[in-house]
Amino acid sequence: MKFDKTILNAFGQIETPFYYYDTALLGQTFDAARQASLQIPNTTVHFAVKSNANPRVLQYVRDAGFGADCVSGGEIELCIKAGISADKIMFAGVGKTDKEIMLAISNDILCFNVESLEELDIINQLAGQMDKTVNVALRINPNIDAHTHEYITTGLEDNKFGIALDDMLKAVKHAINLPNVNYYGLHFHIGSQILNYNSFRILSSRINKIQDALEAAGIQTCSINVGGGLGIDYDKPQDNPLPDFNKYFATFKKYLRLRPNQVIHCELGRALSAQWGSLITRTIFVKRTRTKRFAIVDAGFTELIRPALYQAHHKIINLSATDKKRHRYDVVGPICESTDTFGTDELLPTVERGHLLAILSAGAYGEVMASQYNCRPLVKAYCTEDIIKQSGH
Ligand code: LLP
Repeated sequence: MKFDKTILNAFGQIETPFYYYDTALLGQTFDAARQASLQIPNTTVHFAVKSNANPRVLQYVRDAGFGADCVSGGEIELCIKAGISADKIMFAGVGKTDKEIMLAISNDILCFNVESLEELDIINQLAGQMDKTVNVALRINPNIDAHTHEYITTGLEDNKFGIALDDMLKAVKHAINLPNVNYYGLHFHIGSQILNYNSFRILSSRINKIQDALEAAGIQTCSINVGGGLGIDYDKPQDNPLPDFNKYFATFKKYLRLRPNQVIHCELGRALSAQWGSLITRTIFVKRTRTKRFAIVDAGFTELIRPALYQAHHKIINLSATDKKRHRYDVVGPICESTDTFGTDELLPTVERGHLLAILSAGAYGEVMASQYNCRPLVKAYCTEDIIKQSGH
């Protein structure tokens, strides 16, 4: 993420707080992912829209040729509006309503990622009423510990997600026998912010075993979806702006035993969207107490909830610094809750009232998770081209 003079000058004219999306870095990230995915033939990268549903961003997703991984009717509608072709849209989630299922069916999306037998029956019934046959992939819970934060782990037996391994064969056979669904494939997702590639290796071997068991029962699977979850460097985002997509795809290439003509899907969110987004906020006061310096900024957890919700840390930089001297600051928001803290004892060049700070790696699960708590307006987001236009360059 780079902030050149033109951008910094333009920032001065925009009401804070706001999101800034560096579209040059977005382009590099999408290119790197696309290139790396070519290692495995027949791979489609689906952008996990839950990580960033900004309409402009979805247009970039469309232009990159990616598909979309949606978890609500609202996300499906946004993707279609952005021009992402329906046959590249997958619909996942444990609690799809009838209305959402019908919306997806009527748009002829690529497939449903189904999380239970109960859901499978309802999709079949609704598709029947609409005189359609729809693709289903069954989400199997592979019971793998992805060694990530407990709030964002999803592949363990006790999680609400997916169909248990023990029920898998029964579920697949059931899907094959239903008249209005077509058994398309298997879906997995073991968690988020995974930096230990061993977890993807274990997932691959678990998938191999599952495929062997299905083949032994005479069942062929057309598609394997390995989910998302690739993590990013929150500590040094400026040194490592691009996730190691090559290693990610190479791991599956090496360990996943694909059958001839099988298609592969992955649904990356954070890895595709985190590093090109920053939350830009202005310092309202610098308050000094006996023991602390507080930089009180105009963004709060209403704009970026990750620190409050997951004890996540995003790197913070002072964009207006004129002084080489550095001090330790607690960078806090204006909301009346102690969790409204972006960083404790952050070492920053002297912060003064009016200084702009950038909270980095905020493109994923930032704007989309914003709220209006305390009657605060929803945060706006600007891409590089909006900023340049705004500044009259
Ligand atoms: N596929 C499924 C089925 C998922 O549940 C998720 C994320 C993804 C793909 C995309 O995962 P990613 O590649 O972004 O790791 N709000 C949390 C993250 C929640 C992730 C939920 N599922 C955070 O800010 O860390």
